[in-house]
Amino acid sequence: MDEALDRTSLPYRVEKMRVRDIPQVVDIERQSFPSPWPARAYRYEVTQNRLAHYYIATSQVSHEPHDQTEEEPGLLGRLQTWTQRGNEDRRHVVGYCGFWVVAQEAHISTIAVEPRYRRQGIGQFLLVTAIEKAMELDATLVSLEVRVSNLGAQNLYRKYGFRKVGRRPRYYSDNREDALIMTADHITSTAYQRLFRQRRERLLKRLERSASRVREDQGQRS
Ligand SMILES: CC(C)(COP(=O)(O)OP(=O)(O)OC[C@H]1O[C@@H](n2cnc3c(N)ncnc32)[C@H](O)[C@@H]1OP(=O)(O)O)[C@@H](O)C(=O)NCCC(=O)NCCS
Repeated sequence: MDEALDRTSLPYRVEKMRVRDIPQVVDIERQSFPSPWPARAYRYEVTQNRLAHYYIATSQVSHEPHDQTEEEPGLLGRLQTWTQRGNEDRRHVVGYCGFWVVAQEAHISTIAVEPRYRRQGIGQFLLVTAIEKAMELDATLVSLEVRVSNLGAQNLYRKYGFRKVGRRPRYYSDNREDALIMTADHITSTAYQRLFRQRRERLLKRLERSASRVREDQGQRS
């Protein structure tokens, strides 16, 4: 197997969104966007929209807090014990993303990570999955809109080769903010594939390292 694609030992897993995940998704949505999509929008995307592809990131570890008194527990404090892989009852959604594919163009409609799990690579993991799936579906371009003020998300997209190609004035109805249009062009080109593989490999190593730290930490406690 391509080593970069062996993700069995990572602390997170990305899988298809299902109807039963929607309550957790909507909970993250409310914490992430000023005008959140309602549950019925996600239900439509998951059950009816044939152009839509939605994924969730789930944590592979238990989330009983190690120290209830910790205000902002770190990864090691939060992730106490490994759960059995595939234990459906305990699957905990930590982020999600979705995209539509129309005529070889993939358009990312949403991406969000639960606030306390941000800056750990989950947003990248979701974006990597969306780009991989878009490639599988023969898309040649990936596009999205992002608020001009959302510099964190723009940094994430730039890491994966997205460039600003336009602007939609007053696109967001809540505050009339402009949207930047960003695209990753020619995702099937050798140059893009090289960039994508490098980024993906770096990300997977980073996620592996954090998984090893959690395992070591648990070993020391038991
Ligand atoms: C945007 C979002 C999905 C990123 O998720 P995440 O899990 O924190 O992202 P990652 O940890 O994979 O970060 C990847 C890179 O993005 C950039 N980035 C992410 N958040 C950032 C921030 N707050 N400030 C600056 N750069 C940031 C960094 O380059 C980061 O790499 P680094 O941690 O190695 O420096 C998350 O912040 C979020 O849910 N925001 C609210 C919803 C939203 O704005 N979605 C985008 C709509 S267009």
